[in-house]
Amino acid sequence: MTITISDLHAVEILDSRARPTLSVSLSTRQGPVVRAGVPSGASTGSREAVELRDGDKSRFGGQGVRKAVANVNGEIASALRGRTFSELAEIDQQLIDLDGTETKARLGANAVVGVSMAAARAIAAIDGRPLWKTFVRSSTAARLPVPHFNVVNGGVHAPNELDFQEFMLAPLGSPSEAEAVRAGAEIYSALKRRLAGKGLATGLGDEGGFAPEIASPEDVLGILVGSITDAGYEPGRNGVALAMDPASSEFYRDGKYHVAGEALSSDDMIERYAKIIERFPVWLLEDGLAESDWDGWERLTARLGEQVEVVGDDILCTNPAIIREAIGRKAGNAALIKVNQIGTVTEALEAIEICQQAGWGQFVSHRSGETEDSFIADLAVGTGCGHMKTGAPARGERVAKYNRLIEIEDAEHLPYGLA
Ligand code: PGA
Ligand code: ZN
Repeated sequence: MTITISDLHAVEILDSRARPTLSVSLSTRQGPVVRAGVPSGASTGSREAVELRDGDKSRFGGQGVRKAVANVNGEIASALRGRTFSELAEIDQQLIDLDGTETKARLGANAVVGVSMAAARAIAAIDGRPLWKTFVRSSTAARLPVPHFNVVNGGVHAPNELDFQEFMLAPLGSPSEAEAVRAGAEIYSALKRRLAGKGLATGLGDEGGFAPEIASPEDVLGILVGSITDAGYEPGRNGVALAMDPASSEFYRDGKYHVAGEALSSDDMIERYAKIIERFPVWLLEDGLAESDWDGWERLTARLGEQVEVVGDDILCTNPAIIREAIGRKAGNAALIKVNQIGTVTEALEAIEICQQAGWGQFVSHRSGETEDSFIADLAVGTGCGHMKTGAPARGERVAKYNRLIEIEDAEHLPYGLA
């Protein structure tokens, strides 16, 4: 395979939160023009690759991305136009070198990741293969991931009083992707009826989950178990389990976790989670503790790591070097994988590979700000990561990814679920 980039073009478009982001189109001598939409987060880790925003308050409240667009159309296009490469890693290395910073702050991680995603798609098109096949490595077989539907939103993703950010349905026991998506959709509808029946609002948060005025995470989990049963499914690992992303860095201040009016220590939080796991079928806990609380993470993993997948998001930032450190310190046993958190597809693939070699989980993820681009569905399938989260089974930018998984399953029979 060779890829000769003939042109690159970015334009400022909108993400799902009415904020600007980039659409990048890339043309090659060998294949069709391809496009990528750049995702963007709200509860970001402090060591994430840096998005370039214009800061011009007269447009989009300073959130415009014209500078990042200009970097794609100018400096990046000039560096890549007419150049021939033999693999994605070469293109991504070129982007990393061109930017020259640790965090891709100069050209903007939003500019860089858009080019990287488009280049991956161009290579697949030149090879005449679906995108997911380009991510398959000999060491790991492709799999259809367990979709994790974020159906109750809180934290910085919703204006309600709920401190925990995400409550997810995980159809671990479903026989196929299509059946898992059906379970997610049916339970989502049952949950809406249950919330309405309690007089609770059914307005939506940023990822399409409901945002009821409930303060207690335990109350939310109780309602979710009821909704799973209402829809005719079995709560638990053989049926539909639960997962949580409290995104606790957002409510960690002065060494305490501020949850529903209480100020809790790391150890209080760990014991709270232990009780939750005893009472409810929670199988995965992401960002249970804050990104700066490494000692807490070690204790959390020692206490609960045998019972649940302990996923690091803000603490790891999809960063291969930080993931290596966390593996060494036994801080967590899985990494969230967000391509824009590190800034190139190649580095995200490296993060996944490090996890696989260490026996760590890899949980591929969308961002709260999304486009209709379904890139991560292919990434999750091809890497065989086994599970993926991309919000509620509602709102087009979320559903695009779930629908892509169903289409992949329809085209090719692959095993479903965690290995
Ligand atoms: P974000 O949240 O995309 O707003 O950063 C997602 C997450 O915390 O997992
Ligand atoms: Zn998270």
